[in-house]
Amino acid sequence: MNDRTASLHPGAIALVTGASSGIGEATARRLSERGARVICAARRVDRLQALVAAWGDRVIALPLDVDRADDVAGLIDRLPADWRAIDILVNNAGHDIHGRRRFVNGTIADWAAIVETNTVGLMRVAHAVLPGMLQRGRGHVVNIGSSSAFNLLGDSAYIASKAAVHGLSQAWRSETLGKGVRVTEVIPGPVRTEFAATRLDGDAAGGEAFYKQFKAVIEADDVARAIVYALEQPGYMTVTELAMMPSA
Ligand SMILES: NC(=O)c1ccc[n+]([C@@H]2O[C@H](COP(=O)([O-])OP(=O)(O)OC[C@H]3O[C@@H](n4cnc5c(N)ncnc54)[C@H](OP(=O)(O)O)[C@@H]3O)[C@@H](O)[C@H]2O)c1
Repeated sequence: MNDRTASLHPGAIALVTGASSGIGEATARRLSERGARVICAARRVDRLQALVAAWGDRVIALPLDVDRADDVAGLIDRLPADWRAIDILVNNAGHDIHGRRRFVNGTIADWAAIVETNTVGLMRVAHAVLPGMLQRGRGHVVNIGSSSAFNLLGDSAYIASKAAVHGLSQAWRSETLGKGVRVTEVIPGPVRTEFAATRLDGDAAGGEAFYKQFKAVIEADDVARAIVYALEQPGYMTVTELAMMPSA
């Protein structure tokens, strides 16, 4: 008999990493509007507190640095007892600091930092959350990949970090198949967020100039709506990958 239960339903508990801006913040907002209880995780706690103040008690803030193994390993224990049975993980935290340069023009420390957050950090969070999902026989992991993983030009560490997310998404999907846990990879092209300014050490004008080179860019809420779509499908079907690009 087909299980029609959607991952996203009123009362479902969602953990969104990188919820302090951009795609993560927009997704947390959409999930909360759909009645989910949302754990908003990131390093900039002041921003998370502002979301909690604006959105009410269906949302809580979780200070989390995905680069720190101890921080992530203990994340479930740091949650209030009735917030620990996470149904939905949106594995979104990421950056491209000092990226968009030729490989030889950047430092290995910069390249390693990108992989550390985008790939190892994503693995850490899933490693902390997936066992509970498997134990309960219920859960949905949404990994935020990137079109860069398939457009192999010019940003090698970021490309590598997101190609790894593509591989991990496929491997986790096959490992969890038939166990009540679904894995979706969301693959956006350029999205207007703080991402480009962060790449330039917070240069907002430089970030704006980056997005102006495109005739059109995706907005963070467009990605959030795509995530909601994947999470609202009946349990017998997995949206495996959702790719999106600007139309112009
Ligand atoms: N914008 C694009 O064009 C685009 C396209 C494809 C994919 N993506 C992906 O989408 C995801 C979200 O990016 P965005 O565009 O929304 O950029 P953004 O506005 O810069 O948001 C990035 C988020 O990641 C968090 N973060 C960064 N490092 C972290 C760490 N070590 N621990 C915990 N949180 C961390 C940041 O929070 P704190 O600084 O507060 O910790 C922030 O909330 C990333 O994985 C990115 O690679 C973006």
